[in-house]
Amino acid sequence: MKEKILIYGGTFNPVHIGHTHILKCFKEAINPQRILVIPTGDPPHKASPDLVPAYHRINMLKLSLMDEGIDAEVSTIETESSEKSYTAVTLTKLKEIYPDAEFYLCMGEDMFLTIHKWYKPEVILSLATVCAAKRSSEAQERLNNQLDYLKSHFENFKGMIVNIPYLEASSTEIREGTPDKKARLLTKSVFKYIFENSLYTKTFEKGISAEECKALIKPLLKEKRYNHSLAVAKKALELQAKYGGDKNKTEIAALLHDIMKDTSIETQLKIIEFSAIMLSVSEKLSPQVLHQISGAAYLKNYLKIEDAEIINAVRNHTTGRGSMTQLEKLVFIADAISEDRNYPSLQSIREASEISLEKALFVNTRSIIKDFSEKALPIVEGTLDTYNYYLKFKE
Ligand SMILES: [Fe+2]
Ligand SMILES: [Fe+2]
Repeated sequence: MKEKILIYGGTFNPVHIGHTHILKCFKEAINPQRILVIPTGDPPHKASPDLVPAYHRINMLKLSLMDEGIDAEVSTIETESSEKSYTAVTLTKLKEIYPDAEFYLCMGEDMFLTIHKWYKPEVILSLATVCAAKRSSEAQERLNNQLDYLKSHFENFKGMIVNIPYLEASSTEIREGTPDKKARLLTKSVFKYIFENSLYTKTFEKGISAEECKALIKPLLKEKRYNHSLAVAKKALELQAKYGGDKNKTEIAALLHDIMKDTSIETQLKIIEFSAIMLSVSEKLSPQVLHQISGAAYLKNYLKIEDAEIINAVRNHTTGRGSMTQLEKLVFIADAISEDRNYPSLQSIREASEISLEKALFVNTRSIIKDFSEKALPIVEGTLDTYNYYLKFKE
């Protein structure tokens, strides 16, 4: 019996759960002895400025196949070629490597409907059985018409339609989407790989402007939180004008302080894990403080913001710590008393902030500790350290 080889190609920029879902369904329908997943080199049909280098796409494919338990080979036949990737050329090369095999070329509906317009379709259709994924019942007629067309125009054409329930996932949306979207549509190892290699993002090794900060936080925050971030930046600059500090860093840190606050706890925990950060017992019990940890990790490890002062101001803006830097104090207090805030002890913290940042830190943490202990909630070490350290400013 001839060896059946399932061939599945694409840009895989990045590979997502929609791809592996299709691959699993095709595998079940065809029952091949070998699966070749072939990422494209230089795609002939679309110029992609955001296409990441082939070695990243290959690495992500391998991770994804491993995560999903799919026994398949990632072929570099197209990525290692200096020519443009054409399916007809690839199949011809594969025929030389596997002269006795039967090829099953698998593809989505859209590709199947246009295959007669590809480069040398007669070569493709003579070398492989074309397998098309049918996403929905409405597609049946379109696909049948295309099957008929191909049968009548290409000698020895062989094709099959495989029912594959549609799983909505698009690489474009993942590239442009939030961490929550990436966490939902990528396997964990692929999400980790994208995070660790800062793929699909601008990075800021050389510094970041206030305008860039706003553009970064806008898609990650709800409108109310975005406006809160602007209000915290405004208040932080007022405090900086009164008490001193680096104006530029104050604005940047304040704008970025809540960058992860509207990301799900589940995704934040992944980002914390990818950054090899161990949480303390009290932090694990306090989901509301996680965003300062995941936020700092996201800025440092994914966006490559290298300024340690800015990172630390984000890292400690909720709990504080003993002996805070001026920037940490400015962001912490601005976050507590920005004009959008409204809670019982607000007035006393605002009044303390007129006297000194240190006194405001003491008044603020005292009220947090009082409030949390009354509600029998855990208190994170950082909050206790802040209270103990700034107790000397109680008068
Ligand atoms: Fe916050
Ligand atoms: Fe905040």
